[in-house]
Amino acid sequence: MSDVSRPSPAGVRTAAVIPAAGRGVRLGPGAPKALRALNGTPMLIHAVRAMAASRHVALVVVVAPPEGTAEVRSMLDAHALPERTEFLVVPGGASRQESVKRGLDALPPGYDVVLVHDAARPLVPVDTVDAVIEAVRAGAVAVVPALPLADTVKEVVPAQAPGEPEPVVATPERARLRAVQTPQGFDRGALIRAHETVTGDVTDDAGMIERLGLKVVVVPGHEEAFKVTRPLDLVLAEAVLARRRLNDGF
Ligand code: C5P
Repeated sequence: MSDVSRPSPAGVRTAAVIPAAGRGVRLGPGAPKALRALNGTPMLIHAVRAMAASRHVALVVVVAPPEGTAEVRSMLDAHALPERTEFLVVPGGASRQESVKRGLDALPPGYDVVLVHDAARPLVPVDTVDAVIEAVRAGAVAVVPALPLADTVKEVVPAQAPGEPEPVVATPERARLRAVQTPQGFDRGALIRAHETVTGDVTDDAGMIERLGLKVVVVPGHEEAFKVTRPLDLVLAEAVLARRRLNDGF
């Protein structure tokens, strides 16, 4: 594994790509997941604000559901967002990987650090965003926020039919495992190369960098950066927002 480091000039500019084109079927029927409301505000707007909250982020590229780009554009216009940040909206693709690629294709020159952040993680705190950016600026090619696991994890042979017992193959040592979150941060050139060369099934962008043989590092994630996937996650997200409002009030 090679270790590519970069110098970190003071004028490094950061852009964030937000893939938001998924249907979110695990959340139940309804609008695309990113467009559903959390405490009255679309999840996507929370995610955009979470990226724009970092003073390093000068551009946010939202990758919208292909049939919903106009809706997303007017959604961004209708909500208060920091004036120092620019916004672009592009149509997404059939897979998350394809959607991220379309976001990268839309990036203008001049951005050396790129964050990729799931719209489905609307509540990531700005300190986590900044920690990822700082680590890339300090020379890492790819940076992932992550947390230790609460559950023990088993590797199994997946069932052929629903409900069948699944034989356990292995129990990886829990202390060595991390659950990874977003935003993941990258040297722009490396991320573009990864998206041009790595094909096949990947569930995160850092995994593509690993396949190039480049080094990925982990920084501490945050419990509020959880992914809104199932109906119970909506309840948790609204509880986090209610707690924030209460804390902001004092
Ligand atoms: O489905 P999953 O929760 O893993 O999706 C992660 C993120 O990728 C979500 O923000 C989703 O909107 C996005 N996505 C996308 N284009 C797809 C599928 C998922 O932008 N075709």
